[in-house]
Amino acid sequence: MTGLLTGKTAVITGGAQGIGYAIAERFIAEGARVVLGDMNAEQVATAAQSLGGEAVARGVACNVTSADEVQALIDAAVAAFGAVDVMVNNAGITRDATMRKMSEEHFDQVIDVHLKGTWLGTRAAAAHMRERGSGAIVNLSSISGKVGFVGQTNYSAAKAGIVGLSKAAAKEVAHLGVRINCIQPGLIRTAMTEAMPQRIWDEKMSEIPMGRAGEPSEIASVATFLASDLSSYMTGTVLEVTGGRLM
Ligand SMILES: NC(=O)c1ccc[n+]([C@@H]2O[C@H](COP(=O)([O-])OP(=O)(O)OC[C@H]3O[C@@H](n4cnc5c(N)ncnc54)[C@H](O)[C@@H]3O)[C@@H](O)[C@H]2O)c1
Repeated sequence: MTGLLTGKTAVITGGAQGIGYAIAERFIAEGARVVLGDMNAEQVATAAQSLGGEAVARGVACNVTSADEVQALIDAAVAAFGAVDVMVNNAGITRDATMRKMSEEHFDQVIDVHLKGTWLGTRAAAAHMRERGSGAIVNLSSISGKVGFVGQTNYSAAKAGIVGLSKAAAKEVAHLGVRINCIQPGLIRTAMTEAMPQRIWDEKMSEIPMGRAGEPSEIASVATFLASDLSSYMTGTVLEVTGGRLM
């Protein structure tokens, strides 16, 4: 433990698995307590247990598309650990298809979970943090939001939208001590990407100068940087964590 987040409390949405879980692991190793919010109620409870149980991690059933549930998540963190210092808006889904085949429902779902979910999380966390005069919010965008990927008109739009909302929100609360930054991961090895056909995986790999996919822990270390005082003079930024892909 190096203690970059000693005494801090972090809320992480979509924390039951993948990148969110890896962020929780690293935050705890740095001295934080975490509250995971995830739609998968059973898995989020198990995740909190395996992260060390009640003293350091709590799991809360939360659908990030619901304003009430997102507020309840923040309230649960305050009730459990006294305050929220860090908010990570990470929950996500994909519903890939070319525009010709994508249903309107799948467009709306992806926009709702990523864009509205991140807005609700940013709004609720910022409201709490501005009263305390400090806080860091980390929003998960994607390289898909920078360049646009075939089959992801919904996801690319949502992930680009997260950059815009984060910059606008960062300007609103910077003078109140609240920082808001984004991460744009490239190809990271999680359940979300393991569902990808091998041909597509190989195609993506060929675009990566570092010649490999990233690990969730490599997003977690950048999230730790943005959550901690190491990045105290940064707000409204977008950090690409892609092994050099599409730089
Ligand atoms: N894996 C990658 O290569 C990659 C690349 C770029 C960006 N990202 C982004 O990183 C984030 C995490 O991705 P991951 O790969 O760990 O995905 P994942 O599918 O492994 O985990 C996503 C988690 O979000 C939860 N979730 C989904 N909808 C939710 C909702 N409405 N409310 C609450 N929780 C919900 C799921 O239950 C799951 O636990 C996502 O925002 C994703 O878009 C991932």
